[in-house]
Amino acid sequence: MRKPFISANWKMNKTIEETVEFINAFIPLVKDITDVDMLIAPPFISLSTAAGFLKGTNIKLGAQNVFYEEKGAFTGEVSPAMLLSAGCTHVILGHSERRQYFMETDEVVNKKVKIALKNGLDAILCVGESLKEREENRMFEVLDKQLSGSLKDLSMDGITIAYEPIWAIGTGKTATKEQANEAHAHIRGWLRENKEGADTVRILYGGSVTPENVASLMSEPEVDGGLVGGASLKPDSFAQIVINSRRK
Ligand code: 13P
Repeated sequence: MRKPFISANWKMNKTIEETVEFINAFIPLVKDITDVDMLIAPPFISLSTAAGFLKGTNIKLGAQNVFYEEKGAFTGEVSPAMLLSAGCTHVILGHSERRQYFMETDEVVNKKVKIALKNGLDAILCVGESLKEREENRMFEVLDKQLSGSLKDLSMDGITIAYEPIWAIGTGKTATKEQANEAHAHIRGWLRENKEGADTVRILYGGSVTPENVASLMSEPEVDGGLVGGASLKPDSFAQIVINSRRK
């Protein structure tokens, strides 16, 4: 049985002070939870402070991006070693917002996953189709292309997949549990055909996850957790998502 994994993706939200305020409120709400892996991913600037407050807790820390070179003249970028020294264990890569606003291709995402793993960071790789692609019945084709491009020459050690249909992100239009399970089952099928250890890889669902819908999504056999945006910004709502994701 794969252990549930609930990750927050705060995107470009919260100052350092707001991050500390969240963490101080969140820790007591989930302190006894050992059957769900939890992660928060604040913006870069808050990582180091967050790590200090999370030390010794059951909550892990992740970044939302990394650059694909070790160091050098790359103004404004952040390296894997910097994330490690800030206290991160994970990095979210290939999010659709990175693909859309920052022109990240599967090739770029592949380089980022590679350098993250090489440096000892775990990667949460995001894939997902647009509404148009779904309506044109190209969903599986799009997922296959993203998986084969982003995972080229990689084994699955240290990789979690997040299925995030673009039409469900920030829209309040959650995929039904059947839609999520269908996509996850397809992703796992692709992994079985192309990689070792497909059955132990966790596949998270992302897109308008809330305390109200998470238990239903988690009741599906292929849904191993969630990547949560909006509903992860409040400590009680995110804690409730974690609690409601526990296996019965
Ligand atoms: P929302 O939960 O706000 O829909 O965002 C999902 C997401 O993009 C997480 O990475």
